[in-house]
Amino acid sequence: MARADLPFESEVRKELARTRVHPRSRARHLPGWMYTSAEVFRRETERIFLKDWLIIGRVEEVETPGDYFTFDIVDEPVVVTRGKDGRLNAFSNVCRHRGAKVVEGRGNAKAFGCPYHGWTYDIEGKLAQTTFTDDVEGFDFDNCRLAPIQIGTWGGWIFVNFDPDAAPLERHVAPYAEKLGYFRQEDCRLSDTLIVESDVNWKLMAENFIDVYHFRTLHAGTFGTRKNPATNIPYDEDQVIIFRPGGKSLTPTGEMLLGRLPWLTEDDPSAAGHMPPNAYFTCHADNVQLWMSWPLSPSRSRIMIYRCSNSRATTSRSARSRITPSSPAFSTKTWVW
Ligand code: FES
Ligand SMILES: [Fe+2]
Repeated sequence: MARADLPFESEVRKELARTRVHPRSRARHLPGWMYTSAEVFRRETERIFLKDWLIIGRVEEVETPGDYFTFDIVDEPVVVTRGKDGRLNAFSNVCRHRGAKVVEGRGNAKAFGCPYHGWTYDIEGKLAQTTFTDDVEGFDFDNCRLAPIQIGTWGGWIFVNFDPDAAPLERHVAPYAEKLGYFRQEDCRLSDTLIVESDVNWKLMAENFIDVYHFRTLHAGTFGTRKNPATNIPYDEDQVIIFRPGGKSLTPTGEMLLGRLPWLTEDDPSAAGHMPPNAYFTCHADNVQLWMSWPLSPSRSRIMIYRCSNSRATTSRSARSRITPSSPAFSTKTWVW
């Protein structure tokens, strides 16, 4: 670390320490500059988003060999593909020639042709074709490929990690596998997604989710009115998981529009859990939602919400037609059920 960084580093550490004081009644929240500082944002990108396991989609989004989708993590463009061999791949969406973005959007492809000079990469990211490179001295065609990124799955979710030396994904997800495993998210299927951009720092979504204090006021029109005691809150430095007995849906009445997930019983509690750095699971009797907050700048974020439900119910037209904005249980304000 450069010497000039030290005062800033110690200031950040001092403020973080104030949030972790015991007993909790003495803890304080972060000062405003932690949410607006360009330097804090730069360090968050470097030390969190380029180091941690991050969820960027569902396995059913890339079900068939050749399926792909693209995703930008802060300023890093990523492609996820299902290879010819059926395995998942993640690699940088930055051409090895002059750095153009190779592919946009999602779809199914045999290869990706860079729009700038036409280099072609196969679905696993390996260079397949170039022109006018035969006489380039030292050009290693066979080993040229879009830079690979670590990829793994848990619960049907696709995780990536830019850090080749990161701890294994299994370790990252272990507490969630243990505590939320009964929802069998791997047996659910993505039914719909919602993407909202907002003038908010990315950390505020996580903070809002571990704040059950606002339920009875902000959510008074939906689930906030139900007797909804938040119990069993094991809180440590890394995770917050809350269980609510008498698991129902989060519709205003608790009605389950898609039917109970068949592997759950009436005694299984609803649950919600923050997965650092930017994911939040909210799991109910008839659906599981994942909320993600992606930083775009210190003051702007993209909130992505995935809703998954029983795969049979999700694919039936009658069930789908019940998930519409005109449904009385659908709240565009909170999109909570
Ligand atoms: S930048 Fe991709 S082929 Fe030139
Ligand atoms: Fe809320």
